[in-house]
Amino acid sequence: MFGLDGRIALVTGAGQGVGAGIARALAARGAVVAVNDLERERATAVETEIAAQGGRARRAIFDVTDYDAVAAGIRAIEGDLGPIDVLVNNAGVPAGMDVRKFLDTEPDQWRRYVDLNLYGVMNCCRATVGGMSERGWGRVITISSGAGTIGMSFGVSPYAAGKGGAISFMRHLALETAASGVTANTVAIGLIDNQLDPSVTAGLAKTIPTGRLGKPDDVAALCVYLASPEASWMTGQTINLNGGNPTS
Ligand SMILES: NC(=O)c1ccc[n+]([C@@H]2O[C@H](COP(=O)([O-])OP(=O)(O)OC[C@H]3O[C@@H](n4cnc5c(N)ncnc54)[C@H](O)[C@@H]3O)[C@@H](O)[C@H]2O)c1
Repeated sequence: MFGLDGRIALVTGAGQGVGAGIARALAARGAVVAVNDLERERATAVETEIAAQGGRARRAIFDVTDYDAVAAGIRAIEGDLGPIDVLVNNAGVPAGMDVRKFLDTEPDQWRRYVDLNLYGVMNCCRATVGGMSERGWGRVITISSGAGTIGMSFGVSPYAAGKGGAISFMRHLALETAASGVTANTVAIGLIDNQLDPSVTAGLAKTIPTGRLGKPDDVAALCVYLASPEASWMTGQTINLNGGNPTS
């Protein structure tokens, strides 16, 4: 069950953190993984690590917010590896992301969050999903956040606008493609321990019913399922993965 042998997968923002975990897990199940990132060194390190574990990977350096760069990057991946079967839209944290209440922000500070979390997702879908539909098989998974499903008061509203927009977009994409063998699901994740300082995580963990932050592997395991042949009846869903925090 959940084998991905021979499938071609693209994971965006996979040079570190959650995306790197997803890339490693898909490769371990047999997928050939295009490791996208803006940062060449990060993507190369993940590519090398997957190869060292006996998997197949290829770095793919492009900015998901730039449609022309996405289209060219995806043409190059497909030329090398073959058509993309699995797209994981993971890139979502812009460099230097700050936390600021909405009334303390200016309009020119909002766009990069929406560009990355909504346009980034739409760009990658536009460049891959047509081919998936024609071939009658595809999996699209978007990594969103609890910030996209519930209100929070600590100052992430522009990010949340992008995350929530992507959740809505994915529901519509799922219905437009359901009859063609392409599924589209969103995973709204809670706080993940990306090698944070233990003194910080100890306090944060107390706010989570399971008593711990998530790990990239927790997200990766769900992505393996969603990418698998066995998940063909799972589409149009937003799945909350957050250690038990209430979601409404
Ligand atoms: N870490 C958390 O606690 C948390 C919580 C909820 C949701 N999320 C979501 O999970 C996903 C992964 O988060 P993370 O914490 O692992 O992120 P991260 O910041 O550790 O890594 C993200 C990677 O994306 C790359 N990237 C940024 N902009 C890009 C662009 N325009 N094109 C291509 N690559 C780009 C970065 O270079 C970086 O390597 C994001 O969508 C994030 O919003 C994370």
